[in-house]
Amino acid sequence: MKPLGRLRLGINIDHVATIRNARGGALPDPLRAALLAEAAGADGITAHLREDRRHIRDTDIEALMAGLSVPLNFECAATAEMQAIALRHKPHAVCLVPEKREERTTEGGLDVAGDAKRLAEFIAPLRDAGCRVSMFIGHEAAQIEASAKIGAAVVELHTGRYCDLTTEGQHDAAAAELEALRKGSAHAHALGLEVHMGHGLDFETAAEVAAFPEVMELNIGHFLIGEAVFRGLGPAIEEMRRRMDIARNVTA
Ligand code: PXP
Repeated sequence: MKPLGRLRLGINIDHVATIRNARGGALPDPLRAALLAEAAGADGITAHLREDRRHIRDTDIEALMAGLSVPLNFECAATAEMQAIALRHKPHAVCLVPEKREERTTEGGLDVAGDAKRLAEFIAPLRDAGCRVSMFIGHEAAQIEASAKIGAAVVELHTGRYCDLTTEGQHDAAAAELEALRKGSAHAHALGLEVHMGHGLDFETAAEVAAFPEVMELNIGHFLIGEAVFRGLGPAIEEMRRRMDIARNVTA
């Protein structure tokens, strides 16, 4: 197999903030986790500032912008408040996600096709400010095509359903979902979009999607923060990196 090229690994540190907020103090510090992730080989850090501030807070975004050497992928809903925050900080990337207060995590992809005009207007100033705008969407062709049409640079395909089906042992349905993600990444790439993937990935599911040649970046949080309890954050990230490199046939 020909090497596919190195895949970027973005580490989502939201759940370090979840643990901090469970006690209301300052520890564990998400910036410290981000710097450790950087040292372990992360190519970027992702943080989702939710409307309800349930994990990442405004001060975390300030600290990450000031303290990181790798790019920050600022994840947020397409609201005026979040747009103003993004324009103030001008992070490397802005990933737009749907957000519902009652959800435990980001449950589905953004409906770009159904909200194209508003989203096109929403992303224009972010693009002008130099941010790479990414749309977190499902693998449906209509969402991919709408993302290209409104001028997004990147699509991040939602791998949550594939990961859930895998965990539930629904092998046929998981294989069908993986195939749909494969087709979606090829379609997005053909339209000139950079393709990322994320949500719910663990060592096994990450290795499967890492093998898609069009994919350039994986964003992974919950599993690695959990795995850090057992082996430490640095070793957990290094192991993910190793498995991604094997999947791409890249030698470190
Ligand atoms: N990418 C996006 C756009 C997300 O919303 C999330 C979850 O916040 C992730 C990646 C990371 O998902 P997980 O924490 O399940 O690895």
